[in-house]
Amino acid sequence: MRAYLPQRIVQFLTATHPTKHTIYLCRHGESEYNTTGRLGGNSPITERGWVFAEILAKFAARHISNLRDGDPDGASIAARLWTSSMLRTIQTASLIPHPTLTPPNGAPWESMAPRIYRNIDEIFAGDCEGLTPEEVAATHPQASYLRKMDKIGYRYPRGESYFDLISRLEPCIQEMESYNEPLLIVSHQAILRCIFAYLTGVDREKAPGMETQIQQNVVYQIDLDASSEQHVTGDEKRLPAFVTVHDFRDEVERTMRERRGGGSREEDDKVAGVL
Ligand code: F6P
Repeated sequence: MRAYLPQRIVQFLTATHPTKHTIYLCRHGESEYNTTGRLGGNSPITERGWVFAEILAKFAARHISNLRDGDPDGASIAARLWTSSMLRTIQTASLIPHPTLTPPNGAPWESMAPRIYRNIDEIFAGDCEGLTPEEVAATHPQASYLRKMDKIGYRYPRGESYFDLISRLEPCIQEMESYNEPLLIVSHQAILRCIFAYLTGVDREKAPGMETQIQQNVVYQIDLDASSEQHVTGDEKRLPAFVTVHDFRDEVERTMRERRGGGSREEDDKVAGVL
């Protein structure tokens, strides 16, 4: 087989398998840039981000790499962990335990060993990196307008478009499809919208507009098998039955309140910028 496209199709089909495999997706915990609404950058996570990192580490040990889902004493099983190359995802995943398993007949396996992929770094906003949306509107009025008109196709000046993201995601998707073990991907908003849309059968044109579907402090569990295809809804607002949402937003805020000495919910919301 010589032509480029048939080669890619065959490569993809040989990597794809219909047996059950589970992908977990989550955004990094709150970053310093998130608190001021700045785009991109490489800022570290905040105290709130570290609280989510602790929760995620417990969740991973109990549910993702655990033989008996939810049992703190369940034996560890082989599982995989990917982060982007950015500080905020690496820190968010840094507390996840990665025990070495020694199967009776196989080579030792470091479960949840972190693997860093630049392909799942956040969309690069080029000249708009580090700016707030208001600053983008003031300094690059055309950018705000054009992006509103065509979010998937708009490329930031000296930066990327959603189409660019989709093409750099292709090798990762192919590798993801080839796995049997559960995989946790800790990445970013724009990237996760694209992966989530792909896995749940949402048209890629709709992925950039999925503003509320990929929340921080939430883990999305996607159980894929031969029958998943039949359950896709094609509607980005209605999750298919093979998606389970593990929502830790309340737990993160409760833990923050406790650590700050039990301030009221209202005071907390003010600190979090909700009010
Ligand atoms: O604001 C957080 C963030 O991850 C930015 O770094 C990134 O530019 C943006 O979200 C992507 O979302 P959207 O494509 O909706 O601007």
